[in-house]
Amino acid sequence: MTDLYAVIGNPIEHSRSPQIHAAFARQTGQDIRYERILGDLDGFEADVEAFIDAGGRGLNVTLPFKERAFRLAGELSARAHDAGAVNTLVVRDAGLFGDNTDGVGLVRDLGCNHLFSFNGARLLLLGAGGAARGVLRPLLQERPAQLVLANRTAGKAHELAGAASDTGNVIACGLDELQGLRFDLIINATAAGLDARVPDIPDDCLAEGGWTYDMLYGEGPTAFVEWGKVHGATRALDGLGMLVEQAAESFRLWRGVQPDTSTVIASLRRG
Ligand code: ATR
Repeated sequence: MTDLYAVIGNPIEHSRSPQIHAAFARQTGQDIRYERILGDLDGFEADVEAFIDAGGRGLNVTLPFKERAFRLAGELSARAHDAGAVNTLVVRDAGLFGDNTDGVGLVRDLGCNHLFSFNGARLLLLGAGGAARGVLRPLLQERPAQLVLANRTAGKAHELAGAASDTGNVIACGLDELQGLRFDLIINATAAGLDARVPDIPDDCLAEGGWTYDMLYGEGPTAFVEWGKVHGATRALDGLGMLVEQAAESFRLWRGVQPDTSTVIASLRRG
């Protein structure tokens, strides 16, 4: 019997998740259907209920519903608990299980696909909203030499860093406090790119040989990918690989099989 899955968000029409999961299903011989659901801003919970009533087995949750999915889940993974947000719901007999695969998606894209070595690296994570919160602990678990969390509103960075300080050494500051610091990897988890802007950071904060990573992706290079190229990044990556890796982890949770991501990333790159 074909099992039903979907991604729910608002807006949702540009989501690439159906394409990614269809490719995983073909590759692993899993009999699934995967749809898009435009979630009702006032009725996300009812939409999830209706999906379950229709026989749905699992959901990916995207903006702006990740915090509401977190509250809706009856049981949470440790990483969903840490992130304060859920991007994957699993429909179980006992109720809804919520997980968050964004952090592992980022770490696998950097570490496994691009062979970035976290060991000894100086990391700068930009932003202190939901996107940054989802990846902060998974990054600290890679044991970088240093992780600076910088946000336009410094207070929010301090708050987030304080909550994660049991996992590793994280220093919080405002974007205007980065003068004189150098980083081997700068990760952009701000929403600035949605308006084709970049966070206001010093021109010289990328170390020689350093990398940049934008958690956003788009048709062409994002604003922060351009920033990386202009500022001499050895690699200026966008978030397409992270998108596929977080999807693979959701697929594994639902189906118990690990799909191969490299072919799917390559085919999405070709467009
Ligand atoms: P998300 O869940 O996608 O992280 P969010 O919770 O609204 O979204 O957080 C947006 C983040 O992007 C915040 O860190 C925000 O900075 P502030 O906390 O100072 O608002 C950051 N951001 C948005 N636009 C930005 C810009 N133009 N420059 C720098 N940071 C920006």
